[in-house]
Amino acid sequence: MTVVISLFNQAGGVGKSTLTQNLGYHLSLRHHKVLLVDIDPQASLSTFMGLEPADLEKTIYDALVSEQDEPLPLHRDLHGMDLAPANILLANAEQELIFAELREFRLKEVLAPLLDNYDFILIDCPPSLGILTQISLVASTHVLVPIQCQFKALKGTDSLLKTVARVQRKLNRPLKFAGFFPTMYSASNSLDQRTLQSISEQLSNLAPVFPPLPRATAVAEAAEYGKPLALCPNKHPAILRLFDEIAIFLEEMT
Ligand SMILES: Nc1ncnc2c1ncn2[C@@H]1O[C@H](COP(=O)(O)OP(=O)(O)OP(=O)(O)O)[C@@H](O)[C@H]1O
Ligand SMILES: [Mg+2]
Repeated sequence: MTVVISLFNQAGGVGKSTLTQNLGYHLSLRHHKVLLVDIDPQASLSTFMGLEPADLEKTIYDALVSEQDEPLPLHRDLHGMDLAPANILLANAEQELIFAELREFRLKEVLAPLLDNYDFILIDCPPSLGILTQISLVASTHVLVPIQCQFKALKGTDSLLKTVARVQRKLNRPLKFAGFFPTMYSASNSLDQRTLQSISEQLSNLAPVFPPLPRATAVAEAAEYGKPLALCPNKHPAILRLFDEIAIFLEEMT
């Protein structure tokens, strides 16, 4: 069965797109067939993968709003993965899907014909609780939540958990948490240490809390480079090992 994972947190800049790209890459290194789905109008994931979103003729937007079952436009074999890119036009989908029939199931329908082709589909959600996030959670088997190790980190988790619970109750009963991934961690910062401890205390009863992803210039540089960290000149061995470890966890999760 294909594992479909939404990387979700309505907080912005917590590492959703970074993790979608890099966990996808490390799964592909382990010989899994991987599709990355960019469902954020900001299109960071498409940019991180080396595309220029403004130049794209077709994106996920076209498939989502099509009334003729237009297939999801894919860019194949980008660093060993396939990508369904987005661009700013996707912002219109929020409005256009309002009146669509069974709109909550739109992404699930669009992905259905592709399931046989992939072992893992990773969906990079936008930083919101709107319809694009909702349709991603409905299309997923799992949700992975990056949480920034920052003072306010746990503030938004209530609405995040409520959103997932509502989707589980009404639209996608089997949806499970894959885990919580603390990000942007500075081991030398005592505030980050305390936040990490609170994250573990408050969330580990719901799902595994992964070891924290350190804040590191190499990660931000890789995004600008348009490649997964592992393919960049300035590697960070400890972070690459962590990505491998999480990829193995995801592989063994099902
Ligand atoms: N561990 C890290 N260390 C340093 N910089 C990082 C790290 N992880 C991500 N970044 C950088 O921080 C920024 C935000 O990361 P990213 O785009 O992955 O977050 P996001 O949750 O997808 O954001 P948004 O909510 O806007 O979609 C990016 O510039 C990224 O390169
Ligand atoms: Mg993002």
